[in-house]
Amino acid sequence: MTLTIPLRILDGMQTVAEPGGPSLTLGWIGAGRMGTAMAARALKAGHELTVFNRTRSKTGPLVARGAKLAETVGQLADRDVVFVTVASSDDLLTVLVGDGGLLTGSEVPRIIVDCSTVSMNASAEARAAADERFVGFLAAPVSGNPKVARAGRLSMVVSGPRPTFEEAESALRHVAKEVTYVGEGEVSRLVKLCHNLFLGVMIQSLAEVTVLAQKGGVRRTDFLAFLNSSVLGSAFTRYKSPAIVNLDFEPTFTSRLLWKDFDLGLHEARRLESPMPVAALVHELLGQSIGCGFGDVDFAALVEMIAKGAGLELEPEARSTLGGGCGSGAGS
Ligand SMILES: NC(=O)c1ccc[n+]([C@@H]2O[C@H](COP(=O)([O-])OP(=O)(O)OC[C@H]3O[C@@H](n4cnc5c(N)ncnc54)[C@H](OP(=O)(O)O)[C@@H]3O)[C@@H](O)[C@H]2O)c1
Repeated sequence: MTLTIPLRILDGMQTVAEPGGPSLTLGWIGAGRMGTAMAARALKAGHELTVFNRTRSKTGPLVARGAKLAETVGQLADRDVVFVTVASSDDLLTVLVGDGGLLTGSEVPRIIVDCSTVSMNASAEARAAADERFVGFLAAPVSGNPKVARAGRLSMVVSGPRPTFEEAESALRHVAKEVTYVGEGEVSRLVKLCHNLFLGVMIQSLAEVTVLAQKGGVRRTDFLAFLNSSVLGSAFTRYKSPAIVNLDFEPTFTSRLLWKDFDLGLHEARRLESPMPVAALVHELLGQSIGCGFGDVDFAALVEMIAKGAGLELEPEARSTLGGGCGSGAGS
C-alpha cells in the first residue's frame, strides 16, 4: 500500500496534510452527476484524491475542491483505493480492462470499489480481472441521487471479500452514510437492482394516481399533500412531489438509466425464475417514455406521459416545495 500523509480540510474546500486525517489515498474514475457529488464527500473528509473523467471539463468542480487531475486512467494506479462511478456495464469494463484500462498497466491499485449500477455478469468479469492482478474488488452500488450524495446521506450496499471491505471501510463511510456489507461475490448488485425495480414501480404508481386525481379535478399539490401526510407518504414520495407539481425534470436520475436497470433486474428475475409481472410492465412504460422524448430527463417525467395517455396536458402548478428536502435514500 502507498504510504500517505493524511489531509485536513481548509475552508471546507482545499486540503493540506495533517496527522490524524484519513490515510487511504483515493482515485476516482467518472466525474458525472454521482461521481462528482460522492468524490466531494471524500475530499471533505480529508482524503487525498485524484480524479479522471473522459470529458475532462467535468472534473472542474472537484479540482476546485483540491482534487488532482489524472490525464489517463493509468495514472490512478498508485492509489490505495480507486472508486468507479461510470454509467454502464460496458463503461466499467472499458475503464478497467479496455485499452489503457486500470488493470492493464504494470502498476495496479490495491483496491477497486465500483459504485456504478451494472450487471452481475460485468461485475463478475471485472472481479476476475482484478483477482488476476491481486487487486481487491468491491461491488458497492449506492442508493440516493446527487443531492442525497452531496448531503452525505447515501446508502451503499457492498459485496466482495470481507478483508477487502474492512480495509476500505473507512473510505466507504466517508462517501456514504449507511454502508451495508451483504456477502461475497456480486450479491450487492442484485440488492441494488431489486431496489431500482421497486423505485420504478413506485414512480409509475405515483404518476398514475396523481393523474387520476387531477383528471377528477384535484390539484396535484393538494393530492400529494394528502398522500404525503398519510401512512403511504415516504421519504421518496415527499422528495419527488415538487418535481411532479412543478414539472421540474432537471435530471437527478434519468429514465434511460432506470430503463437500463430494469433490463438488468428483469434479466436476473428470469435467471432466478422469480416472476415480476408488475416490473415487466413498468419496463415497457419506461421504454415508451424514452421513445416519447423523456429519456434524458428525470424519471419523474413518467407523469407527463401518463397524463398524455389520459388526455391531460399538464401545467406547472404554483412553485411548490411540497415535501422538499433530500430525504434518505430518496432516489436511485
Ligand atoms: N444519478 C443517480 O441518481 C444515481 C443514483 C444511484 C446510482 N446511479 C448509478 O451511478 C452511475 C453513474 O450515474 P450518473 O448519474 O453519475 O451518470 P452520468 O452523470 O452519466 O456519469 C457517468 C460518468 O461516467 C463517465 N464514463 C462513462 N463511460 C466512460 C468511459 N468509457 N470511460 C471513461 N469515463 C466514462 C462519463 O464520462 P463523460 O463525462 O465523458 O460522459 C460520466 O462522467 C450509473 O451506473 C447509475 O446507474 C445513479
